[in-house]
Amino acid sequence: MEFKCLPGGSVVGEARVAGDKSISHRSIMFGSIAEGVTEISGFLEGEDALATVAAFRSMGVQIDGPVDGRVTVHGVGLHGLKSPSTPLDMGNSGTSVRLISGIVAGAGLEATLTGDVSLCKRPMGRVIDPLTLMGASISSEEGGRPPLKIAANRPLKGIDYVLPMASAQVKSCVLLAGLWAEGQTSTTEPAPTRDHTERMLAGFGYPLAREGAKVTLGGEGRLQGRSIEVPADISSAAFFMVAASIAPGSDLLLLHVGINPTRVGVINILRLMGANIESHNEREVGGEPVADIRIQYAPLKGIEIPEEQVPLAIDEFPVLFIAAACAEGRTILRGAEELRVKESDRIASMAEGLTTLGVANEVLEDGIIIDGGQIGGGTIQTHHDHRIAMSFAIAALRANDTIIVQDCDPVSTSFPNFDAIARGLGLQITTLDADR
Ligand code: S3P
Repeated sequence: MEFKCLPGGSVVGEARVAGDKSISHRSIMFGSIAEGVTEISGFLEGEDALATVAAFRSMGVQIDGPVDGRVTVHGVGLHGLKSPSTPLDMGNSGTSVRLISGIVAGAGLEATLTGDVSLCKRPMGRVIDPLTLMGASISSEEGGRPPLKIAANRPLKGIDYVLPMASAQVKSCVLLAGLWAEGQTSTTEPAPTRDHTERMLAGFGYPLAREGAKVTLGGEGRLQGRSIEVPADISSAAFFMVAASIAPGSDLLLLHVGINPTRVGVINILRLMGANIESHNEREVGGEPVADIRIQYAPLKGIEIPEEQVPLAIDEFPVLFIAAACAEGRTILRGAEELRVKESDRIASMAEGLTTLGVANEVLEDGIIIDGGQIGGGTIQTHHDHRIAMSFAIAALRANDTIIVQDCDPVSTSFPNFDAIARGLGLQITTLDADR
């Protein structure tokens, strides 16, 4: 599938974007290892979250749905999971492989975890190392790449782990393994990362202590099934926040967006660039803050992005680079080397696409420098990365010619109806079958 994006237009109206990917994954995982039933609404029916559903079905959990975003998970408790008889295929989903590694190793199951070409290039040493310290036995392909083969070692021992990088997936993997470990398990992170695991564990009634950057839990607790309403994903909303900010005449309301403080870097950064973003009707839903976000067009200016915002906006940089390309002056990003190990090397993929469209940029080891200017037309490669695809579709709003985005199939991993919502709000996107 490819997107043909005609230049120009504005973004007007209101929309509720797809459910939060991180929370959708966790709702299935925690619901599965809880006692009793967990009812989920607003679930993201994207391929990544569905890979997590399939994995837990393979481990013996009955999961009904999703139907219109509703899922019912019949929890089996911490000791009810079974080793899967076939490899768990996590598709494109790093969150699935990293968090489920912690669950499989912790529960003492035997499993092979694999995925698509993009996932099989991504580093898993970051979860293999702490799990091995806890006593797990895991083999991988060269360089710690999937497939991962986890042997049934039980029980693991709790560790006090200082994370070498700011990663919510690594933090979550270790904490999840700690649910079954002997003694206490702690993680300390170098910078705040998304805390959905901590919030949701507490919501399922699991005792844990949070003290600054450190989270500690013991292995004696249990989780109790509950209902979960998944907010709209701020990472998906971000495409339209940037769209409305760069397209003159735009006025957009995004409904029920998750605004967890560990996820709002995109709003903070856009505001620093001069964007006009208001937050209305702030409320808390199932332990997560939510709001309706109004964005009106405003001219943007280039900035030096504060490094402390980087982990808080880690998935939003591709589309923030499009904002930078439309801003007046220079935007500088540093301290973002983690972008190189996402679904693609997002610094390289974005730099390549920006160059194709005539936007001046300089690649840094840990970031990029982008000079705002006129965006041209051209054909973009996504490197099998959903967020690269959607970012360049948004860029067309300010381009002076058509942008073709090739290989857009991965968009359905996180935002299956992106193109339909985009069209509804005024973008001129046609979805073409690449085999036509
Ligand atoms: C996620 C954490 C982040 C993020 C990913 C989802 C999560 O990854 O990029 O899309 O749900 O925990 P890292 O932990 O690797 O930064």
